[in-house]
Amino acid sequence: MLKTKLSLALILFFISFSNSLLAQEKLNAFFPGKIWKDNNGVHINAHGGGIVEYKGTYYWYGEHKIEGEKGNTAQVGVHCYSSKDLYNWKDEGIALAVSDDLKSDIAKGCILERPKVVYNKKTKKFVMWFHLELLGKGYEAARAGVAVADKATGPYTFIKSYRPNAGKMPFYASGTPLTEQVNCDKPANKSDGFFCRDLPGGQMARDMTVFVDDDGKAYHIFSSEENFTLHLAELTPDYLSHTGKFIRIYVGHQTEAPALFKKDGTYYMVGSGCTGWAPNPARWFKSKSIFGPWEFMGNPCEGEKSNITYGGQSTHVLPAPGKKGEFIFMADKWEPKNAIDGRYLWLPVKFDKGDIKISWLDKWDLSIFK
Ligand code: GAL
Repeated sequence: MLKTKLSLALILFFISFSNSLLAQEKLNAFFPGKIWKDNNGVHINAHGGGIVEYKGTYYWYGEHKIEGEKGNTAQVGVHCYSSKDLYNWKDEGIALAVSDDLKSDIAKGCILERPKVVYNKKTKKFVMWFHLELLGKGYEAARAGVAVADKATGPYTFIKSYRPNAGKMPFYASGTPLTEQVNCDKPANKSDGFFCRDLPGGQMARDMTVFVDDDGKAYHIFSSEENFTLHLAELTPDYLSHTGKFIRIYVGHQTEAPALFKKDGTYYMVGSGCTGWAPNPARWFKSKSIFGPWEFMGNPCEGEKSNITYGGQSTHVLPAPGKKGEFIFMADKWEPKNAIDGRYLWLPVKFDKGDIKISWLDKWDLSIFK
C-alpha cells in the first residue's frame, strides 16, 4: 500500500515538474523577428493577421501555415489567439476551418490570406473578411471572402466569396477633374484598362484589410486591378456586403498589404509595394476624409533596412491599449520556403509634425508610449 502511495506521489511529482518545464515563460516585452511562443510554448501561427479588441481581450487572427512551401496554401484555416496584454497569447484554435468538400470556395488547399475580423455592434456578430483564391487556380480568382461568428473565437461560418462592386463606377470627391476619372470608352492607362475589363463581373480583390470608423461604418480596402490600384470600398451596415460606393487610391502604383488607422480625425494608411514574398519599402498615405483624396507620403521607416521594411510587410496597425492616439505597426517577415517559420515584426508608430515614422527595435514594451 505504502509502495503504491509512494509511486503515485512520484508520478504526480513528475507530471507537475514536466508541466512547469513546458509552461511558457511570461513575457513582458515584444521581440520583433524572434520566435514568439503561445501559452503552449508553440510559435504563434497567425500570419498576415489582424487584431480585434472585445471587452478588454485582444483577439489575433491570421493564416495558419504549415511546414514547407505548401504551407502558404490554406491546409488548415484561420488561427485565433487571445491576450489581455499583447505580449502573452493563448491558443484559441482554428476560428475558420477550410472545408474537406473540394467544391467549397474555401476547399482545403485554396489560398486564404490576410484575414481581418471586425465586430459589428448593431448585429453583435464578428465578421471576418479575407483574400480568397480558389483551389488549383493560382492567384487568378482574386476574390473577397466573408465569414461570420457569434463569438470572437468562432467557429466562423463561411458565407460567400466574390469580386466586389460589379457594374459600379468609382466615387469622386466633388470637383475632381474629368481627366482624373476613369473613362471606360478610352482607358487612360493600364490600370484603368483592368478596371474597365472587370467592370461587368466585379473588381479583383487581393491583399486587404477592414477598417471600422468611429460612426460604425466599415470599409474594405484591397489591392485591385491586377494589384495596380487600391480600392477603398464601403460595406453595408451588417458588414457582409459592399454597398457599391468606393474610391481608387494611388492609381497604377501597385500598393499591397494595406493597414488603416485614424488619429485626431486624420486617416492614415500604411502599405507596401508589390514584390511577392520578398520585402520592399513600406509606404504611407494620409487623408482628412475616408473617401480621400489620399496623399502619398513616402516611406515611414527609418534607419538600417528601412528600404525593405526591416525584412517585413505590413499587415495591421493596432491602437495601443490604454494609450489614446498611440499605435503599433504589425508586419510579417515571410519565410516562403518554410511558411510556418514566418516571424512577426511589431514596432511603435511615432508621430512627428504630421508625419509618421517607424524605427527598428530589438526589444520594446508598451511603456514606450506616454
Ligand atoms: C504578397 C502578398 C501576400 C501574398 C504573397 C504571394 O505580395 O502581400 O499576402 O499574396 O504576395 O506571393
